[in-house]
Amino acid sequence: MGKDVIVACDFASREQVFDFLDKFTGRKPFVKIGMELFYAEGPQIVKDIKARGHKIFLDLKLHDIPNTVKKSMAVLSRLDVDMTNLHAAGTISMMEAALEGLTRPDGTRPLLIAVTQLTSTDQERMENDLLIKEPIDKVVMHYAKNAAVAGLDGVVCSPLEAGKVHEICGEKFLTVTPGVRFADGDVGDQKRVMTPEQAKRIGSDYIVVGRPITAADDPVAAYERCIAEFCD
Ligand code: C5P
Repeated sequence: MGKDVIVACDFASREQVFDFLDKFTGRKPFVKIGMELFYAEGPQIVKDIKARGHKIFLDLKLHDIPNTVKKSMAVLSRLDVDMTNLHAAGTISMMEAALEGLTRPDGTRPLLIAVTQLTSTDQERMENDLLIKEPIDKVVMHYAKNAAVAGLDGVVCSPLEAGKVHEICGEKFLTVTPGVRFADGDVGDQKRVMTPEQAKRIGSDYIVVGRPITAADDPVAAYERCIAEFCD
């Protein structure tokens, strides 16, 4: 599996995302479409971006009963996305059902990645709101292991956790890591960040990069810099 840079297209409308993607006349980035754009524009936005030659990570973080997730995953699979995700908190049976739904009649399917604990959930909230009393690192690794047991391809995690996830779940288990910043760039609201080069060294398989590219004066140059630091 080749390493790649996934650009988080956190835009609110079709116009904004196409204004942005129009700048990429050479290499077509792997694009992450999240809930905001998907709910604003519907499934057609996925087909339209795909038709322009981009690979797509559809970041909708499904979490429901296994039967509902299975049927919904079948719909997403028909959109011909390359990667999608769900919450590992939905249990191993939900993840297994998701994989079943995602698998096309010809046996192919998009990559399926699990979210373990959201980075917005800290130890205190996990204990008080969710009544999970174990240390958060242990919970994250346990959920990653559950994802591997269910047959998923990997997890979304901090680049700081990528090495440990590979240790526990195997080298082939994918780590998709946001929280990436250039050494000379703004950190913004991300707390624990790494440069693309550091993420590469620690073993991330895919980095998800939003504002360092989307808000750059020259987004194409920022993207190419990520590729050079992370992939080459
Ligand atoms: O702009 P920035 O590079 O911070 O964007 C990171 C992207 O990764 C956003 O789409 C954000 O929602 C997503 N993400 C994250 N941290 C997580 C999971 C997803 O930043 N733990």
